[in-house]
Amino acid sequence: MANVVVVGAQWGDEGKGKIVDWLSERADVIARFQGGHNAGHTLVIDGKVYKLHALPSGVVRGGKLSVIGNGVVLDPWHLINEIATVREQGVEISPETLMIAENTPLILPFHGELDRAREEAASKGTKIGTTGRGIGPAYEDKVGRRAIRVADLADAATLEARVDRALQHHDPLRKGLGVEPIDREALIAKLTDIAKEILPYAAPVWKVLNEKRKAGKRILFEGAQGALLDIDFGTYPFVTSSNVIAGQAATGVGIGPGSIDYVLGIVKAYTTRVGEGPFPTELLKEDGTPDADGERLGTRGHEFGTTTGRQRRCGWFDAALVRQTCATSGIKGICLTKLDVLDGFETLKICVGYDLDGERLDYLPTAADQQARCTPIYEEMDGWSETTEGARSWNDLPANAVKYVKRVEELIECPVALLSTSPEREDTILVTDPFAD
Ligand code: IMP
Repeated sequence: MANVVVVGAQWGDEGKGKIVDWLSERADVIARFQGGHNAGHTLVIDGKVYKLHALPSGVVRGGKLSVIGNGVVLDPWHLINEIATVREQGVEISPETLMIAENTPLILPFHGELDRAREEAASKGTKIGTTGRGIGPAYEDKVGRRAIRVADLADAATLEARVDRALQHHDPLRKGLGVEPIDREALIAKLTDIAKEILPYAAPVWKVLNEKRKAGKRILFEGAQGALLDIDFGTYPFVTSSNVIAGQAATGVGIGPGSIDYVLGIVKAYTTRVGEGPFPTELLKEDGTPDADGERLGTRGHEFGTTTGRQRRCGWFDAALVRQTCATSGIKGICLTKLDVLDGFETLKICVGYDLDGERLDYLPTAADQQARCTPIYEEMDGWSETTEGARSWNDLPANAVKYVKRVEELIECPVALLSTSPEREDTILVTDPFAD
């Protein structure tokens, strides 16, 4: 297959970084198509740890083209800092290896301020638990047709006009929140300064990618977050502000949907979530703190956010939700990650559907009140005492671990293409190569 999309099939943090890195060796181009530096991708290569937020994971592999597509919202100051950090780690980045779509909207300092001010002002139950990076307000400006885009940085008159348009909206908003108006001149000066560093990377990405496609090059589309945080199909309003599902790969870079040959869903062997919102299989005590199994998953799985350091909420595997995301993203195969975190559990539970007022559902309904009344229906399986960490073939796995994986496949109605058994890229069992012709 020529072009592969990688999407998170849960609430993010499924371990996409490692798999994208693993696949990027087979790809010519690696493209981000949504989200921003709210994402956190950890790559471990030869024991060296790289933490990426805005840069496509392909940058750490020499000789590849990395692309930031128009579906992304870009904080230019953050990006330049991130480039400096990875350069210090020995990674080479140049306009030949990194391209940013000219029509990418920028995240500006006041977007982050607005994001955080809203979260602080929100009452219990309405807080989203955002990363505070300004992602939502930046997407609002894009849809509101008042965003400043990368190409606008190239011309002083256009930039000033765009700033004025944005301020017309944001200053009254800030007044309402009791915040100072934006210093127009300081903002223009700051943007003019960063323009010099960003513009060398600006390119008509849609054109470059279509040429690559015609030349038979392999494109890997790197999703951020997870399908359950999708603005349309996630647990709204406790979602991120972009479309996360695979269809976004096409609009997020400007390539036809027919150019996507394979969608790989990344699926953690249990479930985690950061931030607020529904989580049917969350493992909690009556007082709302994690129960013993939840604590164990969190500790063994090192479940702390790469971007915010927040403790992730943990729960059993929810097959009903993953079946749903396999459908909305057209996932052809999954990569199951972090199976080793389940090592040593005597019994494991898998959610196979929900009970809503006595009725059995095989999907999570959309209405918030119904979601709140849904209780998971579990199937129990025997665990295994042996370790699965670092397994490189099916024969290395205990029989009960294989049974667990097979049951997951059946329940989500999608085959396992890859099995990841540690953060190291070599610790991967390959069943189907997404790039295979
Ligand atoms: P925002 O994307 O910062 O607006 O945050 C909205 C929701 O998405 C919050 O629940 C965040 O915790 C969640 N979120 C955003 N990015 C990620 C990610 O990369 N991994 C997991 N959750 C994320």
